[in-house]
Amino acid sequence: MQRGGRSQSRGRGNNRPPGLSGREIGMYYRNLARQRKKDAKDEGPKIRLGCNVSAPCGILTRVQEYMQQKQQIDEEHLDVNFKRQFHSLLSVNFETFIEQTKEQYEDNEQRNASFDEQLQKQLEERNEDSVYQARYAARLKLPTMSQASDILKAVAQHQVVLIVGSTGCGKTTQVPQILLDADIAEGRASACHIVCTQPRRISAITVAERVSYERAEQLGQSVGYQIRLESRKPRERASIKFCTTGVLLQQLQSDPLLHHVSHLLLDEIHERSVETDLLMALLKVILPQRPTLKVILMSATVREQDFCDYFDNCPMFRIEGVMHPVQMLYLEEVLALTGYQFAKRREKRARENPEYRAMIEPYLRRIRGDYDERVLNQLRQPESEGCEDIEFIAELIYYICSTQAEGAILVFMPGYDKIAKLSTLLGKSQRWRNELIIQPLHSMLSTMDQQAVFRRPPAGKRKVIISTIIAETSVTIDDVVYVINTGRTKLSNYDTETNIQTLEECWVTQANTQQRKGRAGRVQPGICYNLFSRAREQLMAEIPTPEILRSKLESIILSLKLLHIENPYVFLQTLINAPAQEAINNGVALLKRIEALDANGQLTPLGMHLAKMPIDPQMGKMILMSALFRCLDPITSAAAALSYKMPFYTPMGQERRVDEAKRRLSNNMRSDHLLVHNAIAGYRESRLEHRDRDFCFNNFLSTMTLQQLERMKQQFADLLNNYKFLSSADCRHESSNLNSDKIPLLRAIIGGGLYPNMAHLGKSRQIRNQVRAIHHMSTDDGRRVNFHPSSVNSGESSFDSSYFVYFQRQKSTALYLLDATMVFPMALLIFGDGVESGVYDNTPYISVAKAYYFKCNPETAAVVLKLRDCLARLLLKKAMYPAPIEENSDDHRLIKAIELLLSLDERMGDDYEISSDEIDDI
Ligand code: CDP
Ligand code: MG
Repeated sequence: MQRGGRSQSRGRGNNRPPGLSGREIGMYYRNLARQRKKDAKDEGPKIRLGCNVSAPCGILTRVQEYMQQKQQIDEEHLDVNFKRQFHSLLSVNFETFIEQTKEQYEDNEQRNASFDEQLQKQLEERNEDSVYQARYAARLKLPTMSQASDILKAVAQHQVVLIVGSTGCGKTTQVPQILLDADIAEGRASACHIVCTQPRRISAITVAERVSYERAEQLGQSVGYQIRLESRKPRERASIKFCTTGVLLQQLQSDPLLHHVSHLLLDEIHERSVETDLLMALLKVILPQRPTLKVILMSATVREQDFCDYFDNCPMFRIEGVMHPVQMLYLEEVLALTGYQFAKRREKRARENPEYRAMIEPYLRRIRGDYDERVLNQLRQPESEGCEDIEFIAELIYYICSTQAEGAILVFMPGYDKIAKLSTLLGKSQRWRNELIIQPLHSMLSTMDQQAVFRRPPAGKRKVIISTIIAETSVTIDDVVYVINTGRTKLSNYDTETNIQTLEECWVTQANTQQRKGRAGRVQPGICYNLFSRAREQLMAEIPTPEILRSKLESIILSLKLLHIENPYVFLQTLINAPAQEAINNGVALLKRIEALDANGQLTPLGMHLAKMPIDPQMGKMILMSALFRCLDPITSAAAALSYKMPFYTPMGQERRVDEAKRRLSNNMRSDHLLVHNAIAGYRESRLEHRDRDFCFNNFLSTMTLQQLERMKQQFADLLNNYKFLSSADCRHESSNLNSDKIPLLRAIIGGGLYPNMAHLGKSRQIRNQVRAIHHMSTDDGRRVNFHPSSVNSGESSFDSSYFVYFQRQKSTALYLLDATMVFPMALLIFGDGVESGVYDNTPYISVAKAYYFKCNPETAAVVLKLRDCLARLLLKKAMYPAPIEENSDDHRLIKAIELLLSLDERMGDDYEISSDEIDDI
């Protein structure tokens, strides 16, 4: 049948010139296919009608009955708060908004004399305390402390001061204390509210703990922290609060002039995160309006002049750290020292990597005399660099342990997975297991585990910290003497042209390597082992690209609207590095398609809700709809996994077994998103029966990730309950889950959330007798894609529908859909945009977004269009007057009507068993 189909399609309507040889025939058809494609493009989009979506008469009648209702938006009934907020967002621009809040906060700068006196007395008492004295003596050793009086003078004289110093010199821990204690001593601390922003949750907590320890206090007295959904706030006055930059940005929505702050310390600005870049641009607007606000920018030594220029040549302090010399060793030396040999079987692949060869061969010729042949041969293999070979890193650690003096080892790895791999491997070694104390360090660590990283190991043991980029600047561990720099990190990237965001492992920059080197010289001379050659270093970029230039902008544009920043094009232009026009266009276009912005780019009521949610707007829309459609539990599982990560892990070499486990759990749903929920449901069940350890082990599920997902789900429910879309804050509450077992509805809600990320499975074929089919799939922008091998859909050959939604595409060897859920056409027609009906070639159709066309009788098309209208009005009403949908109300009947149409899809589902027609251009 396969062959028949093939020759038929080729025979159709074209006459191959006679006398072509085998290869020429191939070329002929390839060119023909190309020409056809080109023609099709020139003619404009060619309509290809997909399956028939017409609904039976009886069903249509019932749907229409459900829709007998008036969807009136009654101004009177609008939520007053909402009305005020929304109208003000639309009508008030940033400057006016700032003016309005000036009055509100006037009294914040007022002092309280008796409190000031009390604080002074406390300070005197504290200075006598022996515990405090010992800790203060230790602080005095930090270079920052020796410049305390100069810093105070500069801050008094200037509104903005930039402090630059190598990591560990005491900026973060000391500068806030210097400012606070000076104000206390001078009796004006009651008006002192210091806020210091941190790029990560973990650094906000650890640094707050450290500073309260140095002050011999409990956390929550003069020092505290605030991160999203977690805080130990300090007292109102005379205090230091460490918060994440995101938290501060959110506070700007109600307090745009930062009236609750007297000193704002922006830390780690050299990292160039989106948040600090935005905050700096906002500060330029705020500063003239708040002459008493002091801003202290803090940066490691990376392009610091850029910041100085940006703030009109503000005064800059350089704090010289006491850095001990650090010896830099590169891969070639490491190979020579350890004598490590990579597995033989890998040698062949080296020849297949022309880029690597182009880099390494000229270099090898240059260093030929300096290293012996064995080392050169190892270098020749691409796997020798980075962290491809975990065993090599383990061997290097053992080598350091057996040959070098004591001191902790800090290993920089790209991400959690490889950290886990290395620590498992080290834990397996009979010889070393008991001599090493292994400490993973990454942003998802629990607060308690973080503290362990700083502890000195017991005598005779060596601490090995395996960390992500986080230990590069924002977490300082004193006793590190040896650094292993794999040179790899995970980096998100965004290609404006293809509109694809990726998270990929890649090489760090030269600036990163310099920072990493510095970590080895904190207490004594150290050694930095770089697992890449000098040739590789030459190819590395000098400094990292600012995150804003590597990000999709929809979330950012949306959150700017909450700050009354109407025009993203104008505002984003004022950033240190302005993102490309095209990136802003893409962001705005997506926001319009999901109806967060209207056609004029103005915020919609729905958009306002999405902007407030701390997740991606598409995910926000998904959970909001799950509240209205009462299928909260499964949908929040999907949204949580998309916002954080999938709960599965893959031990080396076990890919097949992991696939099998996923397939089992996915229950043939053809959905990576529903798979997550099945996993969570299975985990809960197994816990009740006390067999959760086995369940997780057998299914390659990470308990830590599952628990984090459960926490996130609960947060989502909390949020929706706060916004009044739910009557309960429990994501498993019955009232929120009446429809949670209706799979067609779940698919549609996932589809509605991930829309417009659609893909269509067109054609495919079987290679010889292999069961594995090649999916010929493309996304709606015409790009060819495949299911990622880790998707449950990968390797499946039969689907009930040929339409899919996805969240992320990733480009590696090919373009992959990392996650996908099969959806039915009706879901796209109800929840998509640009739905039109018409007639083509005498066949009536209905289409979505001018991308997919379905045969459809006019009666069904009319009902679908009307239903969409009603749904749009329902969403608008709910956005303006958030409340759960009441049983037996008109709204409830509308939901029923949608359910009915969707369930039809699944039942009718003519089998889209992949066929082999039209294999012309594979
Ligand atoms: O901000 P900067 O990199 O300049 O230094 P810091 O974070 O203020 O760290 C100064 C010193 O405080 C470090 O060298 C550590 O000795 C100590 N510290 C600590 O022990 N625990 C922390 N969580 C943070 C800092
Ligand atoms: Mg710091």
